[in-house]
Amino acid sequence: MSTPQTFDGTETRAADRAPLGGFPRVRPRRLRGSDAIRRLVRETRLHEAQFILPLFVRPGVGIRSPIGSMPGVSQTSIDEMLRDAEAASKAGIGGVLLFGIPDTKDEIGSSGWHEHGPVQEAVRAIKREFPQLLTITDVCMCEYTSHGHCGVLTASGDVDNDATLELLSREALSHAEAGADIVAPSDMMDGRIGHMRDALDNAGFTNTPIMSYAVKYASAFYGPFREAAESTPTFGDRRSYQMDPANALEGIKEARLDLAEGADILMVKPAGAYLDVIQAVKRDTGVPLCAYQVSGEFAMIRAAAERGWIDGERAMMESLTAITRAGADMVITYFALEAAAVLQRR
Ligand code: PBG
Repeated sequence: MSTPQTFDGTETRAADRAPLGGFPRVRPRRLRGSDAIRRLVRETRLHEAQFILPLFVRPGVGIRSPIGSMPGVSQTSIDEMLRDAEAASKAGIGGVLLFGIPDTKDEIGSSGWHEHGPVQEAVRAIKREFPQLLTITDVCMCEYTSHGHCGVLTASGDVDNDATLELLSREALSHAEAGADIVAPSDMMDGRIGHMRDALDNAGFTNTPIMSYAVKYASAFYGPFREAAESTPTFGDRRSYQMDPANALEGIKEARLDLAEGADILMVKPAGAYLDVIQAVKRDTGVPLCAYQVSGEFAMIRAAAERGWIDGERAMMESLTAITRAGADMVITYFALEAAAVLQRR
């Protein structure tokens, strides 16, 4: 017989091994007999402070347009967004993640660093109305470029890594200038964290943290988001910059690189299908780790629940528990307010 191992492959100590095989004296069910005792021995506890709610902001007034593939999620103008921000603030969740849908797009995504762009204005409005609410801004070009890619293109249509860095840093800087608490680059260009750190530091934003979408896969689970953010690429896909879903070790490499370049918080995205990666990155780096339960994960649970095929509330809490159990310290989730309400009730 092989040596008994714990779930993560480390050998168990003799003392831990001793009781195994001790039936009928050892009965794991003793600790499952009542809600009170299950609560006592629970290993993973959720807290609303760990949830981050994504918000999609567009110019205009009085706009709340529902996203078809994400029931319960809408694009809003700033006045409407403030109602969601108020709910987030009251619910005591960790923060909001802001995405902008601009009126105009061009080849280089120049509306991304416009002083009065939707994200910049949303940050100012939240900081004015709910200064305690943490604002995190998504830094990427795909919502702002006419072609929908996460960077500028070369003549041959490739995404030009090094030319994109300058533009991403400009965008991050404009978010910081508007008052963003944290900037979160999601583009997956090489070297963007270091470039952005320098740009922020040189402009005096030495205390603005960077939450890096360090380990971001080229995933089918982003489908509904692209409707929400109007960021579907007009040609090709994102596989030359986002990661191959088959690779886990490469995720550790990406995580280490971003840390070395100055990232403060790392992210794994998507979450549910990448729990092994979350665990591996957490163990390897030990730094604050975020996981993004993306639009497709949300849509699957919502859609099945709407059809009565699963219990939506339980599936929601179970999915968030699993992501946390795997090693995520915080979770970006479209369920943030609903999950906070469930925790409130308990
Ligand atoms: C932008 C970005 C994406 C998501 C977050 N930031 C889409 C993409 O990379 O195509 C996905 C979020 C979600 O699906 O909920 N680069």
